[in-house]
Order: sequence, then C-alpha cells, then structure tokens
Amino acid sequence: MRSEFEIKPAEEPDVTRLQSLINASAFQTNGQGQLLPLNKQEIEALVDQGAFYCAWDGINLIGCVSIVEYAGLVELRSLIVSRSYRSQGVGQSLIRTAMEAARRKGYNELLALTNTSAIPLFEATGFKKEPRPPEKLARDCAKCPLLQGGCIEEAVVANL
Ligand SMILES: CC(C)(COP(=O)(O)OP(=O)(O)OC[C@H]1O[C@@H](n2cnc3c(N)ncnc32)[C@H](O)[C@@H]1OP(=O)(O)O)[C@@H](O)C(=O)NCCC(=O)NCCS
Repeated sequence: MRSEFEIKPAEEPDVTRLQSLINASAFQTNGQGQLLPLNKQEIEALVDQGAFYCAWDGINLIGCVSIVEYAGLVELRSLIVSRSYRSQGVGQSLIRTAMEAARRKGYNELLALTNTSAIPLFEATGFKKEPRPPEKLARDCAKCPLLQGGCIEEAVVANL
C-alpha cells in the first residue's frame, strides 16, 4: 500500500530520532552500513541551520536527508528511508527536496556520495557519476570507519 507522507525541515525535538535512524545504518569498520555516522551535536548544528529534512507518515519518522555546505560545495548527505517505507517514492522526494534546498541557497550543483545500489535512483533524479572531489576526502572520508578499506561509495553530481 502506498503511504501518504510529507517532508518538512527537521526541528530540535527530532534530533534524537534522526540520530537513531541514521546511526542504525551507519558505516562500521567491518564495511557494513550505508551512511556516515553522525553524533548528536553534528545533527543539531545542521537542524539549527535548517539543513536537515524529515519525511513523516503521521507521527512516524520514515526518512531523512541533509545538505551540507563546505569549501564552496554543497553535498546531499544522510539519505535514508525506513525499510518498510521503501520503493514508494520517499527517497526520490527526499533527493528532490535536497536539490531544491541547494538551489535556493544559490548553488548550481549538488554532490552526493552513494553506494552502488542507490546509484540508479540518483541517476533517475538527474545525477551523473563524477570523480570524488578532494574536498570530500579531506573533510569526511578522513574520519570515516571505511577509511581503512572497503569503501564502495561513488560520487554523483546533479546540475540544479
Ligand atoms: C536508497 C533509499 C534512500 C531509497 O529510498 P526509497 O524510498 O526506496 O526510494 P524510492 O522509492 O524513491 O526509489 C526506489 C527506486 O530507486 C531505485 N533504487 C536504486 N537504488 C536503490 C536502493 N538501494 N534501494 C531501493 N531502491 C533503489 C530502484 O529503481 C527503486 O525502484 P523500485 O522501488 O521499483 O525497486 C533507501 O533504499 C535506503 O534508505 N537505503 C539505505 C540507505 C542508503 O543506502 N542511502 C543512500 C546513501 S546516499
């Protein structure tokens, strides 16, 4: 059954639930996981900036995405949809929300790093594969649990 869902900017009371949703699927040193781990302070800072978005089915948090600005770039990060809500368009709506948010901030490109299985979804939303920018390597990859090997993430970029 297709769910009704809505996407809204995250608010301070959502931080703990966002942390649980993200960190349940965070990268681990054994190569498991799909998302960069984030601590509460990192999530709070992005929520304060209005840079985190939540997908809701009523009172249920069913997905999220964020945009992160650094070194003149903007990156889509922390894209996840709860298992039981997948394949209903929530992921694509979250990607489009991030694209619109980046466009409103004046960027003309949005970067994402994603796993092989999610690449078709990004390509369907207008992203193309590109080399991973050195700014990302220096910023997040340097402290990622996958740094010691096993990283299968690829960079994709959309024109906005
Ligand atoms: C990737 C993810 C966010 C997609 O969410 P979703 O709500 O299922 O996405 P949509 O319903 O909009 O689109 C799904 C479609 O995209 C494509 N797709 C590409 N990669 C996919 C993946 N990893 N999982 C599911 N569908 C994927 C498929 O064609 C799929 O179509 P189908 O449902 O008919 O099989 C979700 O699978 C997820 O949370 N995965 C774990 C976290 C993750 O890998 N995040 C990406 C890191 S940036």
